[in-house]
Amino acid sequence: MRHTTKAPTRTTIGIIGAGPAGLLLARLLHDAGIDCVVLESRDRAYVEQRQRAGILEQTTVDVLRAAGAGGRMDREGLPHDGIELRYDRRSHRIDFPSLAGGRRVMVYAQTEMVKDLVARQLIDGPPLLFEAEVTGIEGLRAAEDTTGMKGATGTKGPAPTTIRYRHPAREPGAGSGTATLTCDHIVGCDGFHGVARDAIPAGLRRTYERTYPYSWLGILAQAPPAYDELIYAHSSRGFALASMRSPTVSRLYLQVPNGTDPADWPDARIWDELDTRLATDADPAWKLERGPIVAKSVLPMRSWVMEPMRYGRLLLAGDAAHIVPPTGAKGLNLAVADVVVLARALVQRHVTGSTELLDAYSETCLRRVWRAEHFSYTMTELLHTDPAHSAFETRLQLSQLDRIAHSRHAAAELAENYTGLPIAPPSP
Ligand code: APR
Ligand code: PHB
Repeated sequence: MRHTTKAPTRTTIGIIGAGPAGLLLARLLHDAGIDCVVLESRDRAYVEQRQRAGILEQTTVDVLRAAGAGGRMDREGLPHDGIELRYDRRSHRIDFPSLAGGRRVMVYAQTEMVKDLVARQLIDGPPLLFEAEVTGIEGLRAAEDTTGMKGATGTKGPAPTTIRYRHPAREPGAGSGTATLTCDHIVGCDGFHGVARDAIPAGLRRTYERTYPYSWLGILAQAPPAYDELIYAHSSRGFALASMRSPTVSRLYLQVPNGTDPADWPDARIWDELDTRLATDADPAWKLERGPIVAKSVLPMRSWVMEPMRYGRLLLAGDAAHIVPPTGAKGLNLAVADVVVLARALVQRHVTGSTELLDAYSETCLRRVWRAEHFSYTMTELLHTDPAHSAFETRLQLSQLDRIAHSRHAAAELAENYTGLPIAPPSP
């Protein structure tokens, strides 16, 4: 929906951001009969074309199917039963179903999942306003105030709060303007660079961060995948990852120093380096099949968590509250897990009036978030070459990779985390 003079001014749940978190939350709330509006600062084409990761955990797959957004994923996605680890010119396969209780993953690009969710939303979903840039949130208080209006189903609801946003011209010749959306609850699904979390008083936010002394150079190439599963390679020249988007499109990554200019990496240099880092003695003649490179970019690596994920009637979900380095592909899956927990809590709140699940939201999510942070950090540290490390640390990495190759227990730990932990783990 573009802006018309009929842009809604009141809703039960105001969602900021139409990435996977915001779009899926809107779908889950809509299916439960709770009305909501999604405000997205970018236009539809931009949102649908952003290149992001492409591995869906088993639970993410199940959630998308249950939300009626899994049709194309089931037709075009590639189910994977394992990954290959390469190190010291050796290869070792991690078999997911046998190590992780029958679980597997699906290779399906985040950008395709976003297209599916946008399409569903525009057919029968709640309003989705593109080019609606949120500039502020008003009326927030630390505690949820229940003296206000009635909720969607007539139960007593919280006092409203307001989102202020910019919108483009509503009529030809008119200038852009600002508008407000009054909501019972607001969900910040606005990613790492979003504004929602700034509405939480600085003194109440705690952030935890780790940056890494390297980045990834990522390419998208019109070339068949290197192999029928993903390959994660440790090499003395740095990490490499061979992933895919389809049987004819490859997604490949190379560890590069921070600050690398992609222009310093002509296509032939990238292919040569990938061949060298992915080489294995099991098949010395093996080389990647090359094809036109259609996208090339450098991705920084960062671990970051903000606590808590709630302030009164404002809830945060996905990258707005936490990010992980891409090794292990947990970012999208964490965003999905957050909104599943949040949808249950908001439905309970607006249907029964109980705040029990909402009060537990931040703690429930953060327990799983920290597990995924640990896994992403561990995979990153295990596979990359840190310029500050000595030969001692490299030997430790190789020793741990060897342990994974020879211990079912160590391999199962990797497989369970990779295929995804349960969405709401039992309380300790
Ligand atoms: N007003 C409205 N929308 C905004 C604003 C704003 N002020 N600021 C940011 N947004 C939008 C962004 O344009 C983006 O479309 O919020 C959306 C956030 O989407 P994502 O960054 O995709 O975050 P999320 O939905 O949490 O998904 C997490 O995305 O970044 C990857 O690796 C990450 O795969 C993970 C997934
Ligand atoms: C990707 O396909 O983009 C991808 C796959 C696995 C990762 C990270 C990224 O660990």
